[in-house]
Amino acid sequence: VKKIDVVRAILGERVHWAPKKSGAQAFAPTNIALCKYWGKRDQELNLPINSSLSVSLAGKGTVTALNVIADTQDLVSFNGKPVEPGLKFSRRIVEFLDLFRGLPAVRFHVDSSANIPLAAGLASSASGFAALVLALDQLYGWQLSQSELSILARLGSGSACRSLWNGFVEWQVGTQADGMDSRGSRLPEVWPEFCVGLLLLNTAEKALSSREAMERTKATSALYSLWPAKVSADLPVIKEAIVARDFPLLGKTAESNALTMHAMMLSAWPPISYFLPETIAAMQKIWQLRQDGLPLYFTQDAGPNLKLLFLQKDSDSVRSCFTNLEVLQPFVA
Ligand code: PMV
Repeated sequence: VKKIDVVRAILGERVHWAPKKSGAQAFAPTNIALCKYWGKRDQELNLPINSSLSVSLAGKGTVTALNVIADTQDLVSFNGKPVEPGLKFSRRIVEFLDLFRGLPAVRFHVDSSANIPLAAGLASSASGFAALVLALDQLYGWQLSQSELSILARLGSGSACRSLWNGFVEWQVGTQADGMDSRGSRLPEVWPEFCVGLLLLNTAEKALSSREAMERTKATSALYSLWPAKVSADLPVIKEAIVARDFPLLGKTAESNALTMHAMMLSAWPPISYFLPETIAAMQKIWQLRQDGLPLYFTQDAGPNLKLLFLQKDSDSVRSCFTNLEVLQPFVA
């Protein structure tokens, strides 16, 4: 099954529509996985090996403005500056837009702005593709459901299918070959005291994309065969912990899930490490603080930065231990 087949199945006749407006703009939040997506069963459609669960960072993400232009090529800009067409950032967007040109084929100016560092393991591609499908939906007037938009966003970047909602979002692994049952859905729970601290240790663009890292892990790590069982154990516990507001259980399970993902990467060949010395130092500090009684946990994605997990009541203590910590409350507007 190809991406365009999925697009045709969702849009039907609308695939031939011309834009209803000359421009549209949309925002989508970035999301941080508490139970990680790591490994694809279908590389073309970004279908995962396992279900995953994330929390969206309400105000942090990407705003994308889409304008129809009279040109033979798309124009891509990021944070106000044009991006060279040859760069991977532009190519990924242009290839994605090729699925949605309408008749006669339309060219776009895509202008994205993010208030998170690009490709530093802060899920900027997730909010980017989610904002892009929301802007396309408005521009063409498709009026798709959030679930349908989630499937389309997944075609751009897997984790983008979780960025269509605020709050806790589960991405169901699904079983269908065309991935129509592999999409995000929002959990009803709201947890206002839940905090995420962005501990930025290095914001240079990552050397190895999560796509490549996942494939290499799946192909070469002897530990990868254990991963589906780890997720099957962790995911229900995280959901129960959310329902029961059991923060230590949530923190412990999320941290262990992330560390297992990184352990698999270390055992891949050639080995993959997103750890910097600063990352390890911060982890050790967190483990020490926890021993001293502070309920503080972390998660880490495909980059060296950590996302600290704690409750509002401990916010001052956590802040006093880490300079340059940006504290976010995903459930507080
Ligand atoms: O959607 P991608 O290809 O950017 O992969 C995301 C992978 C992780 O961020 C490490 C895990 C996750 O579930 O978000």
